[in-house]
Amino acid sequence: MTHEETLDPQDWSELRALAHRAVDDAVDYMASLRERPAWQHAPAHVKEHFSGGAPAGPQAVEEIYAEYLEYVRPYQLGNSHPRFWGWVLGTGTPLSVVAEMLAASTDAVSGIYSFVANNYVELQVLDWCKELLGYPTEAGGLLTSGCSASNLIALAVARNARAGFDVRGQGLAADDAGAARLTVYCSTEAHSSLTKAVELLGMGTTSLRRVPADDLMRIDLDALAELVAADRAVGLRPVCVVGVAGTTNTGSIDPLPELADFCVAQDLWFHVDGAFGAWTAIAPESRRLVAGMERADSLAFDLHKWMNLTYPVGCVLVRDAQAQLDTFSLTPSYLAHGEGERGLTAVDVPWLSDFGFELSRGFHALKVWMAFKEHGTEKFARVIQQNIDQARYLEGLVTATPGLELALPRQLNIVCFRYVRPELDDAALDRLNKEIELELQERGIAVPSVSTVNGRKYLHVAVANHRTRREDFDLLVREVVRLGKELAAGSGSQRTYLAPEIS
Ligand SMILES: Cc1ncc(COP(=O)(O)O)c(C=O)c1O
Repeated sequence: MTHEETLDPQDWSELRALAHRAVDDAVDYMASLRERPAWQHAPAHVKEHFSGGAPAGPQAVEEIYAEYLEYVRPYQLGNSHPRFWGWVLGTGTPLSVVAEMLAASTDAVSGIYSFVANNYVELQVLDWCKELLGYPTEAGGLLTSGCSASNLIALAVARNARAGFDVRGQGLAADDAGAARLTVYCSTEAHSSLTKAVELLGMGTTSLRRVPADDLMRIDLDALAELVAADRAVGLRPVCVVGVAGTTNTGSIDPLPELADFCVAQDLWFHVDGAFGAWTAIAPESRRLVAGMERADSLAFDLHKWMNLTYPVGCVLVRDAQAQLDTFSLTPSYLAHGEGERGLTAVDVPWLSDFGFELSRGFHALKVWMAFKEHGTEKFARVIQQNIDQARYLEGLVTATPGLELALPRQLNIVCFRYVRPELDDAALDRLNKEIELELQERGIAVPSVSTVNGRKYLHVAVANHRTRREDFDLLVREVVRLGKELAAGSGSQRTYLAPEIS
């Protein structure tokens, strides 16, 4: 008799028991985040554990799970911790964890095939995003793995729509004018994913024209106008301007209404990178800060940052859905669909694979859909406003604390500041503040990052964390000053985790 194998367990009750334990452990972990260090440096033996070849034979799942608990779980980035504020990262919501498990339990593929509920969920989530961000319902859209992918998709549409020749069919070299290189504009502060996007789109790094920023790190409109005119004069072909709603470094917001006007006047595609900042639009007290964003031809943003869904999930919206289809729609015979009203290949809703470069995608929409329903969008709006208010609180603490200095006035949810001492020059202060950052991380107290503003290094605190409380900033400021003094005095610091006292 033929012996046929399956990857299913022989004994489902064992898997059930392990799964229950794993859920309990995961819930305990999430419920006790505040009691843990904000980050824990993975020791060398953990790294060593992950060497050796692929396992040819089986291992008991209990053992594999024990390995996970010992070697993997304690050494995470820590972004779900209440005092994680480095770079700009989200914190995750517990129900998204459940949603991920449910999506995985049916091995759900989304965006293709017909009469599949996943697609209805994703389309509803896209409609919600459009509604919340002031975008028209008929716009095209897609959930992505993050804002890098969203920027890439949006710039591909922008390039194809505004090149003036058939980029998709002929490639960039097809332009008879030869020299008519396509150019895209953004400020020096805009995110590196835009550089990667123009490179991947075959336009070359130098085609991303970086425009100087003003004192508040927003694109300089006069410099933009001059650069576009100068580029046109030498035969380049400007296609797109990118405005940033919340820069990674300082949370600055480019003058979006003025950029929208400029793009209309100059017949350029207006793209907005609103990775985290786009969601300012749902907070009634702050939405004016991103006014004009809704006029963009395309909008890229994340749901895994300020909306706190677990990684990964981002989104791209394109005002002219046809332009998005013209860039990505492609139907080989093995994916033929659209005939009749029965089976998986009829078309009850558009196939989302026609709106991006990926065919098979996971069911990211489920966690968004469940979380939006669980909390209601008004609660997300309140949490965003709370973070903005907390950032204002931290800014106030920094201003009121001798020895601390702001890099620039806070504009949204990011505060950049440094510890200063009159006897130290900028180079020494750069080193000192970098050391303070490392000590805060290594001691598990908090995780800020360091960013450079106007050539100087500052501690960078991005508040996109629904678990943070104001008292966490009291602690941060106290610790920065204490460490600053300690390090400046050259006293050797012990790198062990000292659970900070929070009163
Ligand atoms: C302004 C901005 N754009 C794009 C990105 C890239 O987003 P992701 O990390 O989701 O790919 C980031 C990431 O922090 C960002 O801050």
